[in-house]
Amino acid sequence: MKHISGHTKISGVIGENISYTKSPLIHNYWYSQHQIDGAYLCFNTSSERFKETVYGLFYAGIIGLNVTVPFKELAFDFAHIRSDAAEQAQSVNCLTFKDNQIYGHNTDGIGFYNALKYLDPKIDLNNKEILIIGAGGAASAIIAYLSQFNVKIYILNRTLSKAEDLVNKFSSQVVIQAVTSPLSVDLIVQTTNLKTIETGSIIDIPDDIMQKSYYIIDINYGDGAGEFLKRASKLGIKNCDGSEMLLQQAVPAFEFFNNQPVEITDNLRNLLKNS
Ligand code: ATR
Repeated sequence: MKHISGHTKISGVIGENISYTKSPLIHNYWYSQHQIDGAYLCFNTSSERFKETVYGLFYAGIIGLNVTVPFKELAFDFAHIRSDAAEQAQSVNCLTFKDNQIYGHNTDGIGFYNALKYLDPKIDLNNKEILIIGAGGAASAIIAYLSQFNVKIYILNRTLSKAEDLVNKFSSQVVIQAVTSPLSVDLIVQTTNLKTIETGSIIDIPDDIMQKSYYIIDINYGDGAGEFLKRASKLGIKNCDGSEMLLQQAVPAFEFFNNQPVEITDNLRNLLKNS
């Protein structure tokens, strides 16, 4: 049992109905590995209570908060000072507090990119074509990050108008197009929360198209990503699920909260996989 003292630094994640979250496992692993007297907890609240809960936690001395569904946009509006990464993503997943000011930051984009680098340390996104499946908040944050590269992005979504909304949002920054059927690209990013990609549905990706891509990322983890990535592995395509992104976005978040550099060890990857 972890020793909690009057000096224990508290950090955590705030969201709605997020008791499933694996973030405490990751951050508490680092606290223990680096022998820091700290604890990372999970806080559930509602949209109506978000602001007062965040202020309450900060006034009680919490050192930092990760923000997850569905509050990342609310946190963006609410932060007094936002980092460039937060501005780029138009969303905030990390909050800190100093001199009555709320600081908002975002580590999702770099987490996504470092997950790609985990798949291939030599990856070069320039001149690559990328198919994004889905057009929700996660797709938007990933496209925002990808916009700094010389890439061509296609968005395939059940509701075409939502894909077109993202095209309008990003077309001044990156070459981007909405599509109504899958096409061959270098990288496929699956951002919907579908458990399986249904055969015959708009977002079903036939094997011959999948086979042409070098990498596939499904941002779901656990069972959610299972079937799609099993097919990718069978076809010999480098792939990873959202647990790698979860780990990679947690590294800069932990550093942001604790001023302590950390690493993702194989032991931590295995702990997460078996949890
Ligand atoms: P997130 O923030 O995780 O991206 P979201 O904003 O709710 O979540 O977006 C979920 C995405 O998954 C949407 O693009 C949604 O498609 P629609 O725009 O058509 O709603 C997609 N999605 C969810 N369930 C789906 C399903 N059964 N079939 C196809 N797409 C689905």
